[in-house]
Amino acid sequence: MLELPGLIDPHVHLREPGGTHKEDFETGTIAALAGGFTAVLAMPNTQPPLVDSASLELAQLAARAKARCDYGIFLGAGEGNTSAASALAPWACGLKVYMDHTYGPLRMQSLPALIEHFQRWPGSRPIACHAEGHSLAVVLAMAHLFDRRVHICHVSTAVEIQLIRLAKERGTQVTCEVTPHHLFLSKSNLPALGSGRGEVRPRLATPEDVAALWESLEVIDCFATDHAPHTLAEKDGEQPPPGFPGLETALSLMLGAVNEERLGMDGLVLRMHTNPQRIFDLPPQRESRIEIDEDHVWEVRGVELHSRCGWSPFEGMKLRGRVRRVYLRGQLAYEDGQALAPPGSGRDLISTPVPA
Ligand code: DOR
Ligand code: ZN
Ligand code: ZN
Repeated sequence: MLELPGLIDPHVHLREPGGTHKEDFETGTIAALAGGFTAVLAMPNTQPPLVDSASLELAQLAARAKARCDYGIFLGAGEGNTSAASALAPWACGLKVYMDHTYGPLRMQSLPALIEHFQRWPGSRPIACHAEGHSLAVVLAMAHLFDRRVHICHVSTAVEIQLIRLAKERGTQVTCEVTPHHLFLSKSNLPALGSGRGEVRPRLATPEDVAALWESLEVIDCFATDHAPHTLAEKDGEQPPPGFPGLETALSLMLGAVNEERLGMDGLVLRMHTNPQRIFDLPPQRESRIEIDEDHVWEVRGVELHSRCGWSPFEGMKLRGRVRRVYLRGQLAYEDGQALAPPGSGRDLISTPVPA
C-alpha cells in the first residue's frame, strides 16, 4: 500500500451556486475524496459569479452545509468590483482573472480594471489567471510591473511554458499549473472524443505542445485538474460547453507517469500537495493522508464515477493505482468507493481559523 499526504487541487469547478445539475459541493467533494484530494480550491465562474460579498456568501453557505473535504473559494475579478474584491481578500483563496473567453460571463476586457485589480489585491495570496497566448504575456507584464504574485492556470502550449520559464528566470513572481488532460491528451484524441466532448479551454493542443510540457516539468509548479463538469446531455447537445471532469482520474494518470519514470514520486507529491499548499498559503491539514493500492488496475467508466456529470474524457482507459482510504484530519473520510465524512465536515481553509 502506498501512502501519500492528502492531495490538494488548486483548480476545480463545483458549480454552486447555480449549476447544481452538473455538480455541487457535495458530489464534487466526494469526487475529490475518491481521487485522493483532501482539499480543493473552487472557482468563481458560478451563477451568479462570485464577485461580491452576497454571492461569495451563497457559495460559502452551500460549502459549509455540504462539503466533505476541505476547500477554499476564489473570488472573481469583474470590471466593476476592484474595491469589493480587495476588501473580500481575507475570505478568498485567491483572485481569479479570466482574460479569455471560456464558460460563464466572467471576463476581463478592461485594461484599466485589470490594472486596478493588480494595484489593489493584497499581497498574500496569488492572482490566478486564465490567460492563454497573448493574454499570458499581458498578465506576466502586470505581475512584473505591479510586483504581484500570479498563478497561471492550465498552461497548455510550448510557447506558454517557454514564456513562464523566461519570466521565472527574470524574477517575476509567477507559478503555474498544468492539467492531466493537457499532459495525456492532444488534438489527436479529438476524433475519438467527439466534437462536443472534446470541447475544453484551453483547447487540447498539438502532440508537440504536450511533449514540450513534459520536457518542462521543472517549470510546472502544480498539477491541477480544472475539474469542469458538464452533463453528457450538454456536451452532446447543440452548444457544448467547454470542460472536462478530472478529480477522479488525475492521481492514477500521474501515478502512470511515475511508473513510466517520466516523473518521480517526490515530484508528484511536490506538485499535488506541497506546492499548492505553499502557493495558496493554506494551513497544514494535520493527520490527513491517503492510502493507494498501487497495483490495482481499473478501467475508467464515467457512470461509475462520483461526479454528478457521469462521464470522463478518459473513458475506457486502463489506469493503475486506486485510492483505498482517505484520512482527513485524523478521521477516515473515504474507503473503497464510499465517502464516510458527513456533508458539512469539510472546512473552509481560508475563513475559518484552523486549530493548531
Ligand atoms: O474548459 C473549461 N471549462 N475551461 C474553463 O476555463 C472553464 C471551465 C468551466 O467552468 O466549465
Ligand atoms: Zn480556465
Ligand atoms: Zn477552470
